[in-house]
Amino acid sequence: MSLIITPLAAVIGAEIEGIDIVSGVDDKALARIRSALIEYQVVFFRDQKLSLDGLEEFSARLGPLLRVPYVEPVDGHQNVIAVLKEADEAQISIFGGEWHSDFSYLESPPSLTVLYAEDVPDGRGDTLWTNMYAAYEGLSDGFRRKLDRMRAMHSGHIYGAKRPRPTRLKTSQSMKIRRGNPEADEERSHPVVRVHPESGRRALFINPIYTTRFEGMGENESSPLLDTLYAEATRPEYTCRFEWRDGSVAVWDNRCTMHIAINDYDGFRRLLYRTTVGAERPVGLHENE
Ligand code: SIN
Repeated sequence: MSLIITPLAAVIGAEIEGIDIVSGVDDKALARIRSALIEYQVVFFRDQKLSLDGLEEFSARLGPLLRVPYVEPVDGHQNVIAVLKEADEAQISIFGGEWHSDFSYLESPPSLTVLYAEDVPDGRGDTLWTNMYAAYEGLSDGFRRKLDRMRAMHSGHIYGAKRPRPTRLKTSQSMKIRRGNPEADEERSHPVVRVHPESGRRALFINPIYTTRFEGMGENESSPLLDTLYAEATRPEYTCRFEWRDGSVAVWDNRCTMHIAINDYDGFRRLLYRTTVGAERPVGLHENE
């Protein structure tokens, strides 16, 4: 089976054609997907008709599956969550509706995420990704040297409630979110600049949902610098935008990207299924000094 890989934007994202996930991904195709992920950080497949078993099987080929904090899994599929907003849920905030890297507050956050579109509206509810290598590399040498030595605190506790202030307070009731998970609520420190174990490149590893402050600093002291970094990291030229269709699949690398779901589809149902893969403690540059 020959694969065609087409970049979607200047520095992030590619569509892969020529793989039928349902009929199984052989070792050669898997190696191509992995190398495309290293090169493009997020890859997309169209026209896949996946069952939840099929989604889990494909995800497990990429690495060990991770149970998700806070969100109840789908019945009978412990490693799958439904990302759902019903058509009659209007004027509410959505899951993943601010820039983030998945569950960055865990001691070992997921390396990859797989998202499969089951029932999505035409031309709405797109998702954006941004390249956190590019965000780091675009900064001045002096700024990068400072950031290389800094650490930031992350917590799941504040999700949707603090930074940034939610524009819409109610969250979709279709998402089965359960609060009060001690492991996820704890504030944890990670390097601000993370070295990717496969590419060896440096990426910013902070995000507006889960990063509370820099280690050793207060929230108010941290905010101006964090906001500067978020503005840099979300420059349009570092991003790609994906328009979902039923049967689309995205796989992204949380170690070097952030993503955001666009909340522009009130009146339409949007259902995707999601798995998270791998668990890896973020490693900084000066870890062993
Ligand atoms: C997420 O995983 O953050 C949700 C992304 C989306 O719904 O597009």
